Amino acid sequence: MRRWTRRQWVLIAASVVLWLVGIAACLLTAWPVAGAALATLVLLVALAVVDSGSEDARLLAKVNVLTKRADRTLEQVDGLEERLARQMRSARRAVEDAGTQSLDEISTFKLQLAAVIQQLVEINQASRAMNIDAIDERLSLLRDGLDEALRRSASGVVDVVERVASERGAGEGRQAKDLDALKATTRQLHSDIVATRRDVNRVSYEPAKEVEAMLQLTRRYEPKDVLPLAGGWAMSSSGILMLTEMVRDRRPALVVECGSGASTLWLGYALRAQGYGKVVALEHEESYAAQVRALVARHDLQDWVTVLHAPLQERDVEGETHRWYSADQTDGLGPIDILVVDGPPQAVGPWSRYPALPLLESRLRADAVLVIDDAARDDEKAVVQRWKERRDTVTQLPFTSRYQAVLTGVGRLQES
Ligand SMILES: C[S@@+](CC[C@H](N)C(=O)[O-])C[C@H]1O[C@@H](n2cnc3c(N)ncnc32)[C@H](O)[C@@H]1O
Repeated sequence: MRRWTRRQWVLIAASVVLWLVGIAACLLTAWPVAGAALATLVLLVALAVVDSGSEDARLLAKVNVLTKRADRTLEQVDGLEERLARQMRSARRAVEDAGTQSLDEISTFKLQLAAVIQQLVEINQASRAMNIDAIDERLSLLRDGLDEALRRSASGVVDVVERVASERGAGEGRQAKDLDALKATTRQLHSDIVATRRDVNRVSYEPAKEVEAMLQLTRRYEPKDVLPLAGGWAMSSSGILMLTEMVRDRRPALVVECGSGASTLWLGYALRAQGYGKVVALEHEESYAAQVRALVARHDLQDWVTVLHAPLQERDVEGETHRWYSADQTDGLGPIDILVVDGPPQAVGPWSRYPALPLLESRLRADAVLVIDDAARDDEKAVVQRWKERRDTVTQLPFTSRYQAVLTGVGRLQES
């Protein structure tokens, strides 16, 4: 169902009133037919204006609903955190008094604790119901990770309480050790809850941000046809927006992208808008190379985008062997102004993206920038750290998204 804003309703009502007045006035004049046609034309133009705004309004309304739902979830987590802290204090007291408390009381606390933790896990799962098409797959992985962390902490606390209960008579030393363990798991649980709150908070604004970034991209470049959706296997809309802004600001002659897909096409649009330059995408999977090439043709971007099929092969990188794009395709590249590292995929193995800098730095201009996607993942964090350690010129720019890292000081190309 289409939803219109209050402003659009006012515009519709005003147009209809004007039309009625126009028709009435025309009927009383010498040219009723021409006058009525003119009034109808005015009405149709007004409705067309209203209609052009309705799609954005619908999207924004959807985002508003999501945001409200996420806010409610956040309030629930807030209340729960307080309750959990209270429960924790009681549980700790119960274990401290284990010598005098009855076994039943400790079991009751254990059950209460498990119920609260279960509620937290359910809230986490409920936030999954907020998925709209473009919500980043990473958010759901994040929530899975949190569920797992909460479950682990929960079973840790429950185990300790259970052990204290069953070994009540086993001596004071043992109880003190268990008490320490309980305190440690309580602390862990608390920090998991703080992290949950932070992530639920992020869920409340990230979808809106991603939709907004996509609206900005489509307004700026007006793509000719449907594009693969951003997010999930592809870079997020906000990451792609950042890349296109980088093209606008740096005016590159050559962008090289490891891993082809949606971002390759948007880069093509950005280069077409600046009127020169080229993006060359390295693609290890032949079928995806063909798919992306077909999209390039459908969008009339052949002058701006080249997709090279570059199967992975064993490459020597500073004495280590890595699987990376074939030398046949990478040896002729350069000079490169922007290097986007969004492949090979994680499934290839650890350090899959490490070779990008050692193998291409001699082709990167001295003022080139490198953008690596998925920068919040452990493997990519380690890759960035290792790049920084092997060359102290490599510097990460501040204030970029947590999902992409932007590095300068990466180029070694000597230009005459
Ligand atoms: C992390 S993805 C990113 C691709 C690109 N930079 C983007 O953001 O759209 C990397 C790999 O996904 C694969 N890929 C391309 N198109 C795909 C599709 N439609 N579905 C799933 N994977 C795809 C390709 O093998 C590509 O090298």
